[in-house]
Amino acid sequence: MKLSVIGCGYLGAVHAAAMASIGHDVVGIDVNERKIEALSAGQAPFFEPGLPELLTQGVAAGNLRFTTDMSEAHGADVHFVGVGTPQQKDGYAADLTYVNAAIDGLLPYLRPGDIVAGKSTVPVGTAAELAPRVEDAGATLVWNPEFLREGWAVQDTIDPDRLVVGVAGLSAGSGTQEESGSGSQDVSSRFARSTTEREDPGQRAAEILRRVYHPAVAKGTPFLVTDLATAELVKVAANAFLATKISFINAMAEIAEVTGADVTQLADAIGHDVRIGRRFLGAGIGFGGGCLPKDIRAFAARAEELGRSESVSFLREVDAINLRRRERAVTLVVDAVQGDIVGKKVTVLGAAFKPHSDDIRDSPALDAAVRLRGLGADVTVTDPEAIDNARRQHPQLNYVDDRDEALRGADVVLLVTEWDEYRRQLSPEHAASLTAGRLVVDGRNCLDASAWRAAGWQYFGMGRP
Ligand code: UGA
Repeated sequence: MKLSVIGCGYLGAVHAAAMASIGHDVVGIDVNERKIEALSAGQAPFFEPGLPELLTQGVAAGNLRFTTDMSEAHGADVHFVGVGTPQQKDGYAADLTYVNAAIDGLLPYLRPGDIVAGKSTVPVGTAAELAPRVEDAGATLVWNPEFLREGWAVQDTIDPDRLVVGVAGLSAGSGTQEESGSGSQDVSSRFARSTTEREDPGQRAAEILRRVYHPAVAKGTPFLVTDLATAELVKVAANAFLATKISFINAMAEIAEVTGADVTQLADAIGHDVRIGRRFLGAGIGFGGGCLPKDIRAFAARAEELGRSESVSFLREVDAINLRRRERAVTLVVDAVQGDIVGKKVTVLGAAFKPHSDDIRDSPALDAAVRLRGLGADVTVTDPEAIDNARRQHPQLNYVDDRDEALRGADVVLLVTEWDEYRRQLSPEHAASLTAGRLVVDGRNCLDASAWRAAGWQYFGMGRP
């Protein structure tokens, strides 16, 4: 099928490349010329494992191209909108400037029967507001949220754990879920540009999306057709749940800290209950990135607009617990040097908000590094992928590419992004041969505390004795 993807950031670039890799003819469109140049040359403008390979293949095969010219969307059957929805500068709500601009820019190039599939994370109600503009052009708007994780984005896009398509005009409770590949078999015969009397535009759009995602649908990936509001909410509810799960265990870490309990053992023990599950119960310095923090704030802001602020008021608490963990990590470093932080050499292992990413948006790692510097510490930051981004945002910090060089002469080591280079490949003995002090603060509870202690280190975990 012919597809356009508007917005070529973390979401759109991966979506475009992944859709080309499953055989579609894809044009990716973005206003940023530098990004488009890189993508056109088969280069990923950010670190995402597997993406460069897909870009090179698609560009070479000729079924993947990138442009800044919106008119090239003309002729595509489905137009995916994957632009950013950052937090507003002066508030918690989502900034929809880019979504509105993408839709407005696209409208002149839509043909009757085209599908516009929103993928951006938006406040519930956004799609219903946008739909009439798209319908005026004879096209159909659906909302098709994205659940990819940075670092696993390619895999998550090609082989997602569920597909959700919100369509207009679906009466309450009439959503469908298909778990077998059967729905995909007759799709091509039903794929017609004009709608029949039996087929409303929403159902037709859902059929077309099934065809877009054919490989995943054929292998039985759950495909849920909902109304627009539900699809928008699925996305923010999922991120709100994940954020809540992390802050829950971090709240337990706070209790563990005053009782001598060990939050990692606690997480292991409750995680054995399949109703709870161990994933996303990693206590530590907390969550960051371009999604979880801003999504829970935007959700709370939207609930307030809807007169339901009390329904998600717990999200303010989730946010507050999360931000306290950053302070806690800093306090642990200061306590490790008995309060005498001025001039102390602190090596911060990690700058990205999580491993396998060079994304530093709202990174707890950099937040801690900046605070420590503010307290007078001599801070050196290292990261396998994120140093360039970090340096642009926080030029006042020292950056060293090489892990061992960064560790040389350190009084305290603070691990904040659990890259394998730090968590698995750095032995406490080797680290001790480089540093001046033997103080390690494990902001991700990912080191073997007993091994580090046995090698002569004072080990400080988060929510651990
Ligand atoms: C998150 C969601 O997991 C995706 O499903 C969603 O599609 C995406 O946001 C989005 O909205 O686009 P992502 O931001 O890539 O994905 O990162 P996560 O893997 O969710 O991690 C978020 C943060 O939580 C990281 O800072 C990570 O270190 C932290 N985290 C994660 C913990 O502190 N503890 C854990 O146990 C797990």
